[in-house]
Amino acid sequence: MNMMEKKTNASGRLRIVNVVGARPNFIKIAALMAEYKKHPEIDSVLVHTGQHYDVKMSQSLFEQLQIPDPDINLEVGGGSHAVQTAEVMKRFEPVVLKYEADVVLVVGDVNSTLACALVAAKLGIKVAHVEAGLRSFDRTMPEEINRLLTDRISDYLFVSEAAGLENLRNEGIPKENVFYVGNVMIDTLLRFRELAAKSDIHRRLSLDGADYAVLTLHRPSSVDDPGAFRRILTALEAIQRSMPIMFPVHPRTRQRIDSFNLGPRFASAPGIRLVEPIGYLDFMRLMADARLVLSDSGGIQEETCVLGVPCITLRENTERPITVEVGTNTLVGTCPERILSAFKQVLGNSQVMRRVPDLWDGHAAERIVRTLLELRRL
Ligand code: UD1
Repeated sequence: MNMMEKKTNASGRLRIVNVVGARPNFIKIAALMAEYKKHPEIDSVLVHTGQHYDVKMSQSLFEQLQIPDPDINLEVGGGSHAVQTAEVMKRFEPVVLKYEADVVLVVGDVNSTLACALVAAKLGIKVAHVEAGLRSFDRTMPEEINRLLTDRISDYLFVSEAAGLENLRNEGIPKENVFYVGNVMIDTLLRFRELAAKSDIHRRLSLDGADYAVLTLHRPSSVDDPGAFRRILTALEAIQRSMPIMFPVHPRTRQRIDSFNLGPRFASAPGIRLVEPIGYLDFMRLMADARLVLSDSGGIQEETCVLGVPCITLRENTERPITVEVGTNTLVGTCPERILSAFKQVLGNSQVMRRVPDLWDGHAAERIVRTLLELRRL
């Protein structure tokens, strides 16, 4: 463990220990780290749990999103949910004590989010949860368990869409702890949009200007279940006959393709172009110019919403219902007929319905930091 020396909290400044673990966390924390820099009264510490560790899943995002190097990397790596969560907890506790955190700030819904929130809550340290209140109402998703438990023990809950307010109200979370601030993932998207527009990913992938689709898949419900993965693949085999599909493959998905012996099916569908995970700026450019996106991701439902690109979500539910309400997102599950019918519908619609959700305006991090500073004065 790299325990870089940083003085403990005798400074009188608000010390916020920020936690990141997995790829979507980095995109969210980028907005907050940039905002902290504007406030000398904040002393921020960045802890990377090491849940994601490949260069393409982690380090390259730090560089592109101009996130400072983590003060500490807990280097937990992979493992079962229990092992990964427990390992983060064990390694995070001494760190949070050493830094004398006033607040531990966690983002999203990954195992690292819950693990660090739980450590802080038990030590009596205030927990701030960014992206609170989202619910898929599907407890087979590991993220749903992480979201429910993190919110339950958080002191400050920062919500990105209206459904989150309602969910927290229904769960009896006191409303004075809940703040509707908008979406930090969209802060990052808007901040880096111009830079992303300069990416030459189209040239590198030899995309010649014709329509293409972008695909991402990594959730256990789509790739750990061989039946679901095969059903999705059946739809993709049909789609790739009319349009190339760019598919940056997540490490977990790569493992499943091998273990389910799906390589030969991909090989006989040359329109599905499997590539390594793609950096943030390239991926934003690739999505922005796509005819449509097929995905089981959470964040991509939000990013396509702001980019105005149709998103076909390969899940039965979403914790981000606003993206369906505004019209960019369609939930189809893993049934090939439903996927194909949504695909045809998108092709038949030249105009995407689009209304950017309230407060997805690039200023969510600003609101969060302002709120944390105000709460400190109370
Ligand atoms: C995790 C989050 C998920 C999030 C996703 C984004 C949980 C429960 N899941 O899922 O919510 O949407 O991140 O990507 O926290 N691996 C590598 N290299 C890496 C990272 C992972 O090879 O850099 C391998 C791991 O060894 C493991 C597999 O990929 O075998 C899954 O990684 P893990 O972090 O457990 O979960 P994700 O599927 O990435």
